[in-house]
Amino acid sequence: MILMYLTKQEERMLSGEEGYTVKKSMEILVALGDIYGAEKLINIDSVQVAGVSYHNLGDAGLEFLDELARDGKVKVLTTLNPAGMDLENWKKLGISKEFAEKQNSVIEAFRKMGTIISCTCTPYLIGSLPTYGRHIAWSESSAVTFANSVIGAKTNREGGPSALAAAFVGKTPSYGLHSEENRIPDVHVDVTVNPRKISDWGALGWCIGKKVGNKIPYITGVKDADLDELKSFSASVVTYGSKPLFFMKGITPGSEKHQLPKEKVTIEDVDIKEAYESINDDVDIMDFVCIGCPHCSIKEIAEIARLSKNRRVSSSTEFWVATSRLMKQLADKRGYTKIIEDFGGKFACDTCMAVAPLKGRFRSVATTSAKGCYYSRHNGMKTKLGSLEECIEAAVTGKWS
Ligand code: F3S
Repeated sequence: MILMYLTKQEERMLSGEEGYTVKKSMEILVALGDIYGAEKLINIDSVQVAGVSYHNLGDAGLEFLDELARDGKVKVLTTLNPAGMDLENWKKLGISKEFAEKQNSVIEAFRKMGTIISCTCTPYLIGSLPTYGRHIAWSESSAVTFANSVIGAKTNREGGPSALAAAFVGKTPSYGLHSEENRIPDVHVDVTVNPRKISDWGALGWCIGKKVGNKIPYITGVKDADLDELKSFSASVVTYGSKPLFFMKGITPGSEKHQLPKEKVTIEDVDIKEAYESINDDVDIMDFVCIGCPHCSIKEIAEIARLSKNRRVSSSTEFWVATSRLMKQLADKRGYTKIIEDFGGKFACDTCMAVAPLKGRFRSVATTSAKGCYYSRHNGMKTKLGSLEECIEAAVTGKWS
């Protein structure tokens, strides 16, 4: 028995009148809605789909996508998360032909569905920019947290299949973070430290994520934060905690309408120190340096170019800049690409350090991203978290100093 209210048109979609893929999608959405107690489906403005890398999907995932692509067309703006390789320059990144063929089949399935082949975890930097209070259905935890918290849009942390289902129907069940009553902060986090370098924002996310777990933090004490810092913090706080929503007093929208929660925790220097100690492994030889988790903005690429000019990557180290293809095109025009490539760096468009098939290729990674460290450990690498300056130095010397 279906518990959620369906309109006549939704009932027709569920009965298969709009084809196999819409029917399957409705079944997924109705099942989710019933499990989580949604009363109805609501319209959404956009979808971000995770689960694009063949490395994570495997043949079963590819088959699933091929099946949906037979008659499935997305109904709203739908963008993709990073794939397992740079779709144009996969050879330069050391990706095998076999992997590339499979990855291209995945992309072909998405192309047939009508998705934008954006392959980035920062869709909000390349044209899919939600607006305050609007409903969306995004997967990719860093983007979900950014959209909910920094933009004030409303989305649950979708999985790949549920996000795709929402794209084929143009709707999502109304539960969780789509409802105002579930977006009320429940723990006051007073930050007494002043994050300076970009990695400090990841460390701060580690501290808050660990302390608040599944609660929604109302953060005070942060004086200022730019887009890149909030992007980095969003990725880290949800990786080490689990709730994809935070409020930052005076910085993120909606913080002004909430009271300070009674429960309070404090973040001090000692906590940030603990974050670095926990994330950083005992390793000094770095054979991989990767910047761009989440994908680099043009400002970050400009800074990489400034710091790498007239220098040279060590012959024992590989240096990647992970970003969207659109951002790379902008970097081409502004001359940053040439500087970074003269340095010996490689652009990793469409992909990232977590979803590319890197297991067994590198022993260690230096990065500015706390989230990047988390996933690199899963790929068997020792990790170092540090400032952009420290990472560039590691690329030049092959060592962490
Ligand atoms: Fe993006 Fe990959 Fe990091 S999807 S947030 S660059 S792990």
